[in-house]
Amino acid sequence: MKIGILISGRGSNMTAIVDAVQNGKISGAEVVVVISDKSNAQGLEKAKMRGIETVVIPKNKRSREEHDAEIVSELKRRNVEIVCLAGYMRLLSGDFVSVFPNKIINIHPSLLPSFPGLDAQKQAFEYGVKITGCTVHFVDEDLDHGAIILQRSVEVLNEDTAEILSAKILEQEHTLYIEALQKIVMQKYEIVGRRVIFREN
Ligand code: GAR
Repeated sequence: MKIGILISGRGSNMTAIVDAVQNGKISGAEVVVVISDKSNAQGLEKAKMRGIETVVIPKNKRSREEHDAEIVSELKRRNVEIVCLAGYMRLLSGDFVSVFPNKIINIHPSLLPSFPGLDAQKQAFEYGVKITGCTVHFVDEDLDHGAIILQRSVEVLNEDTAEILSAKILEQEHTLYIEALQKIVMQKYEIVGRRVIFREN
């Protein structure tokens, strides 16, 4: 199963995925390309160091559809079957989503549907929730909205700051994304309405 990863920044979830694939934790998969919309994304160097091809596709003044079409064509050219968003900070167009139905996956640092959008950890912290976490979900055209694959909770402690909480969530993101990808690559699931149901065998 060929995987393409889209990033915009640091790329720690991307490296967690690449490392898991390269050390055999996710078997039957290969990361064939890392694409960034930002030429200065720190993750690009990390991908190169791991021997992964990188491509920068800035949006510039184009429409979302034009930008997405170029990304889709780069993914298609490499026969990508699963697209992982890993800190890719753009909403995908309907055209992009329809090319990879239920094959685009995202990670978000809150327990969706709570706190979609930017700075989810800070939103949760300032709201005063006692439990937050992270969500791996399929991507549709709406922001942080598609069917939920896996979630993991993280407790908010009295002594936490927004930064400490973000770090605790990020640590969980790295293992949750791998767990979700293992399941998706093994294709032992079905989607019933909004529910992703896993089969044991
Ligand atoms: C991660 O916390 C990820 O969940 C979040 O951006 C960060 C990227 O970090 N994504 C979103 O908020 C998407 N709505 P990384 O570049 O180190 O993986």
